Amino acid sequence: QLADESVGMQELLISPLRLEPHPSLPLPADLFGSHAGARANSTGLDLTVPAHREPLLAALNTTPVPVVPEADVKTIPGAYAACASSYQIWSKVPVEDRAVVLRRAADALQAAMPQFCALLVKEAFKTWGDAVSEVREAVDFLRYYADEAQRIMQPISCPVVANAQMGYQYGVTGETNTLRLTARGVWVCISPWNFPLAIFMGQVAAALATGNTVLAKPAEQTPGVARAAVDLMVAAGVPADALQLLHGAGETVGAALVAQPGVAGVVFTGSTQVAKIIQRALAAKDGPIVPLIAETGGINAMLVDSSALPEQVVDAVVQSAFRSAGQRCSALRLLVVHSAIADGVIEMLQGAAELLLAGNTADLATDLGPVIDHEAFDNIQRHIARLKKESKVLLAPAESAQAATKPIANLIAPHAFEVDHIANVKAEIFGPVLQVVRWDGNPEDVIAQINALGYGLTLGIQTRIDSRAQALAAAAHVGNIYINRNMIGAVVGVQPFGGEGLSGTGPKAGGPHYLYRFCAEQTVTVNT
Ligand code: SER
Repeated sequence: QLADESVGMQELLISPLRLEPHPSLPLPADLFGSHAGARANSTGLDLTVPAHREPLLAALNTTPVPVVPEADVKTIPGAYAACASSYQIWSKVPVEDRAVVLRRAADALQAAMPQFCALLVKEAFKTWGDAVSEVREAVDFLRYYADEAQRIMQPISCPVVANAQMGYQYGVTGETNTLRLTARGVWVCISPWNFPLAIFMGQVAAALATGNTVLAKPAEQTPGVARAAVDLMVAAGVPADALQLLHGAGETVGAALVAQPGVAGVVFTGSTQVAKIIQRALAAKDGPIVPLIAETGGINAMLVDSSALPEQVVDAVVQSAFRSAGQRCSALRLLVVHSAIADGVIEMLQGAAELLLAGNTADLATDLGPVIDHEAFDNIQRHIARLKKESKVLLAPAESAQAATKPIANLIAPHAFEVDHIANVKAEIFGPVLQVVRWDGNPEDVIAQINALGYGLTLGIQTRIDSRAQALAAAAHVGNIYINRNMIGAVVGVQPFGGEGLSGTGPKAGGPHYLYRFCAEQTVTVNT
C-alpha cells in the first residue's frame, strides 16, 4: 500500500529497481571505506588490499606539508604584471601544446597519488578514501579540460544560413566568416579548503588550458596542498609566472587580487556571501565588465516517498550527509521523508550512524574525521545547540567512543534533528548535521518548498516510480539530481557539477560548457 501514491500499482511493479549494492543492516563500520573512490576511481586502488594501502601509509611519514609564507599585499601588483606578461606568451602556445602540458601534469599527479593523499590527510583531515577520490578527481580535471580546450578552441566556419525546406536564407555571399575562441587574460582563482586539490586544480587547469594565466589564492587552511600542486604543474611545463600562488586571507590577499585593474575574470568556490562580496567588488571597478564564475553552497535536500526502499535510503543518507564529515557543498542537509515510512527510516538511520567511526583520519578505519578548524567546529556546535533547543533530537552522540578515550580536536560525530517544516530549515550547516522533515500529500508541493529555499545545488529523489522521479526532477530548480543513490561525488565529465540561484552562477565544472566562460569569442569576416 503506497500512502502517497497517485499512480497505479502496475507502474510500480514494472519500474526497475536500480539499486546500488548496499550493505544489509547493520552497516559495517568501514561503510565509507568500502565505497571509497569506487565510483570515480579508475586507478584500481583498493584500500582493503595491503599492497595498495602500504604506499599510501608510507607516504604519511615521508611527505612533509609544504610551509607556505603569506603573500605581502604590496607584492601583488608585481605578481599581476609578471602574470600579464606571461599571458602574452602562454596564450600564443597552440592549444594542443598546452593540452600536452596538462596531460603531463595529470600523469605526474597520478604517479604521486600516495604523496598527495598523504598531504590531504595531514593538512585537510581527509579520510584515505576521500583522499584517493580527490586525487583521482584532480587528475580527471586536468585531462578533461585538456581534451575540452582542444575540442572547443578550433575555429568554426559560419557559412550563409540557408533553410531550403522553410524557404529562408540569410548571410552575405562573397564573404567568409569564422568564429574562434581566444583566451581572456589573467584570471584570479580562489579555491576552498574542502577540496584543496581537486577544486584548486580544476579552476587552474580550466584557465590554463584555454590560454589564460593565473593568480591562485588557495584557502587559508590548505596552502600546502596548493603549493605542491603548483610545483607539479610548473615541473610539467607551465611557466612559473603563468601560475602564481598567493597565499593569505580572503579579506586582504583575495581582495587585493580581485582589485587588480587588469584582471580578466574571477573563478571562486566558497560561500554565497563571499561570492557576492567579490561580485560587488568587480562591479565597483572602473574598466571592463569582469566575469565571475561562482560555485557556492546549498541546503541540499533528499525527497523520499513511501515506495522507496528504506535500506537504500539509509545507505544514501549516511553517505551523503556524513561522508567527509558533511564538508561537501553537495552534502545532504535536509531529508524530507514520507510520514508512512519515516519512523522506520529514522530508526535505521540511527542504527547506521552509530556504527560510523569518527576519529583520526590517518587511521584507515576512520569513517569521518575532524572538521577543518576550530572556527568551523564552534560554528557547527552553535547550530547543534540551537537545534537541540528548537527541534526533536534524533541523533546527538556526546562524542564518539574513540574520542572519549583519546580526545581529537574538532571532531563532531553525526547529528540529526527533526524539524517541523522545510521553511524552518534556514542555514547551510557545513558539517555532519542532518535535518529531517516528514511530509504528506503532494510531492510537487515539497519540491516547491525546497525551491523556495533559494539554493539549487544537489537534490536526491528516492522513489520506485519512474514517472514520479522524472516529474519531480523537472520541477526542481537545482543543478545536480541523483535518483535512488547518494548525492555526492560528482564525476568529472560524467556528472557536470554546479548549481543555480544562491548556489552559484554556472557553468558547471567538469562539463562541456565550462571552458567557454574562460574565453572571449571573435568573429572574423573576410570579403573575398
Ligand atoms: N563535486 C563535489 C561533490 O560532488 C562537491 O562537493 O561531492
